[in-house]
Amino acid sequence: FRYFTYLWRLTYLSVIGGSAYLAYGVWELRHPNEQFEPDPSKKNLVILGTGWGAVSLLKKLDTENYNVIVISPRNYFLFTPLLPSCTTGTVEHRSIMEPIRSITRHKRAAVKFYEAEATKIDPERKTVMIDDCSDVQGASNKTEVSYDMLVVSVGAENATFGISGVRENSCFLKEIEDAQRIRKKIMDCVETATFKDQSPEEVERLLHMVVVGGGPTGVEFAGELQDFFDQDIKKWVPEISDKFKVTLIEALPNVLPSFSKQLIEYTESTFKEEKITIKTKTAVKKVTDKTVEAEATGPDGKKTIEVMPYGLLVWATGNALRPVVKDLMSQIPAQKDSRRGLAVNEYLVVQGTKDIWATGDCAVAGYAPTAQVASQEGAFLARLFNTMAKSEAIENTIHDLSSKLNLQPGNAGEVAVQIETNEKKLRRIKDLKPFHYTHQGSLAYIGSERAVADVSWFNGNFATGGGLTYLFWRSAYLSMCFSTRNRVLVVLDWLKSKAFGRDVSRE
Ligand code: FAD
Ligand code: NAI
Repeated sequence: FRYFTYLWRLTYLSVIGGSAYLAYGVWELRHPNEQFEPDPSKKNLVILGTGWGAVSLLKKLDTENYNVIVISPRNYFLFTPLLPSCTTGTVEHRSIMEPIRSITRHKRAAVKFYEAEATKIDPERKTVMIDDCSDVQGASNKTEVSYDMLVVSVGAENATFGISGVRENSCFLKEIEDAQRIRKKIMDCVETATFKDQSPEEVERLLHMVVVGGGPTGVEFAGELQDFFDQDIKKWVPEISDKFKVTLIEALPNVLPSFSKQLIEYTESTFKEEKITIKTKTAVKKVTDKTVEAEATGPDGKKTIEVMPYGLLVWATGNALRPVVKDLMSQIPAQKDSRRGLAVNEYLVVQGTKDIWATGDCAVAGYAPTAQVASQEGAFLARLFNTMAKSEAIENTIHDLSSKLNLQPGNAGEVAVQIETNEKKLRRIKDLKPFHYTHQGSLAYIGSERAVADVSWFNGNFATGGGLTYLFWRSAYLSMCFSTRNRVLVVLDWLKSKAFGRDVSRE
């Protein structure tokens, strides 16, 4: 009975504590403190992007030390790990977006935001050319912003390797609009396939969903899509139940190449159970509006060409450089050998420049292009910039004290002690170690309420897959969501789709 009382008290306290935390989170979100305008004599710190790298920097930056200007064509942060869930309506898109205005408004000193695309960086003149991407503006509206310090955090665009027909005919999965487009197209294919007098070949084509790229994006999307079909579409449109087909095409011998062998096998066997076809050692060479042409390598090394008709094609073959990054690299001789992005040093300074830093998918620091890496790099830069501002302030104090020493020799003893204290402080502050990435593990959803996880804990690695891992995947992603608002909305979406099913209407 005593244990029961303890347990009851513990539950009671956790519920009260959790509710108080939630209530404070909601209140704090709606009631930011008064902001002050930063001192115009401070340095201009320009941040390009509102993704993982930029927002993690902004979150931890003491904005009162700089005139901070954020520039991005997207006025929100996007929680990409749950983007595949948006393609089927398991999670609604607004639940994983956080307005940048809310983030900047919560900083102590005001931050300027321009919704625009950076089109050219001039490292000589220290300027960035930006282009307003507003629809209400009509014509393009270009202007220049000058910087003292610049952080390039513009991410990457979709790699197509110049394969013919990809840009014109496939859907990508990087931005919110991509997920919305896919969601619409899935239902378009289903409704068109059930249209009066459709030929069996056309029905087969329309209901063939092809995913190219067996990395985590392609795998997670294929899993979500099959769930959508098995749990919802099949119920409301039973006449297509034996015709809907998902095929995942991967050029390498297996999917999820960055995961451990055991998890690759688990994913492949789960896909088999889910009836998702995996075609490995198959490289797509050409895409038309209705077919995908791929070269498959057989066990004997013989190559054959396979043409697959499709209704929906999702292209997920990784990252390529954005034009603004490519252009900057072409201006810096030290970047001439870099292929995958801006080569940076251990303090994330772009090699060959003095006042430009880069984070995330557009930077090459020796790590995989992931949100984990980008957010740790952003947080590191915030610490670096806060330190730089603090040490500059202390250096100025030391300078003032030294002048006092000359002008008021009577107080020499006291001033000398103050100088020494400040010098000690300065040494401590300046002792900032280079960037070091801590890998916390990789997680991926693989459909039918199962996930795989390669987790690093206490210097050990654990590879696990299944239903429990799926619960871990959900709680990990929930805790990583940007704000309390995002967390509440995502949980409500999960409950909603469990209770009522996903919405099959085509917006
Ligand atoms: P992004 O987050 O892409 O941000 C780039 C920002 O720059 C955007 O705001 C963009 O609008 C802006 N921008 C673009 N062009 C310009 C320009 N010319 N001027 C100014 N601004 C510009 N990683 C994980 O670790 N775990 C996961 O579970 C995971 N899941 C993912 C799921 C999907 C579907 C995808 C696509 C990626 C996933 N990733 C995941 C990878 C992760 O999203 C990226 O590594 C991460 O977003 C990189 O952060 P970033 O800041 O470099 O770029
Ligand atoms: P990726 O680069 O990881 O995988 C792309 C895959 O496409 C590769 O396996 C490649 O062999 C294949 N490919 C390329 N060209 C092809 C062709 N013509 N035909 C067939 N296959 C082809 O790309 P992805 O999945 O978009 O991920 C990008 C980054 O984001 C990675 O670093 C990844 O780790 C990260 N990410 C992480 C997630 C997670 O941790 N859950 C989820 C999504 C992305």
